[in-house]
Amino acid sequence: MPTPHIAAEPGQIAELVIMPGDPVRARRIAQQRMADAQLVSEVRGIGAWTGTVDGVPMTVMASGMGVPSMSIYATELYREYGVRRIARVGTCGGIPDHVSVADVIIAVSAHTDSGIATSALPGVTLSLAASFDMLAGAVAQARGAGRRVHVGPVFTSDQFYHPRTDLIPVLEGLGTLGVEMEAAALYFAAAREGRDALACLTVSDHLRDHSADLTSQEREQLYEVALEAAIAGLCA
Ligand code: ADE
Repeated sequence: MPTPHIAAEPGQIAELVIMPGDPVRARRIAQQRMADAQLVSEVRGIGAWTGTVDGVPMTVMASGMGVPSMSIYATELYREYGVRRIARVGTCGGIPDHVSVADVIIAVSAHTDSGIATSALPGVTLSLAASFDMLAGAVAQARGAGRRVHVGPVFTSDQFYHPRTDLIPVLEGLGTLGVEMEAAALYFAAAREGRDALACLTVSDHLRDHSADLTSQEREQLYEVALEAAIAGLCA
């Protein structure tokens, strides 16, 4: 301690961590939702702020994009800083027609084409799943928030520009609600380290019809419902 990717001293990271993908969003959450936020690490431009949210000590820190980046930060937070719970607050692409842009998806589980699901135990397909108490707390909070909330599996893709266009219809047939790039890495790190994790996602685009996709500015304004669900999950 510090780790290769986090410069905070022991005790400077809270047990509960809010984890957006985007470092700019992490700073905004620290400024707007935290009291007494202190910058405790800024390695590679990934700021980590520790303060309180509604009186509860929390850290907000970005994961960056993709499985390797999430895997590094989540593992170091759980393993080296004693973090107990991480809640990802991110965006995803909607898959089925009944999921619309601006809806919230709370990810019960994450399918993935990343090697993390199979490299740990060749021959066994791991179930990469959210922690039940966090899930229950987040769903209860989000369902009262006036936005449409879906609860189910997502697909954590290793590629944003995926060449396998045949994947999505099959995943849809299996009930998959959205595609994103980090939840499976978080759920795997939590399972391996014996800790808790959850992903609360805002639908920023739809794979079938891109006419209503959120702009980057709209994405910044619409993540609050997912953020409040994530905070409820952390506190559950
Ligand atoms: N995150 C937000 N939208 C996404 C998409 N369409 N694919 C992968 N990750 C995403």
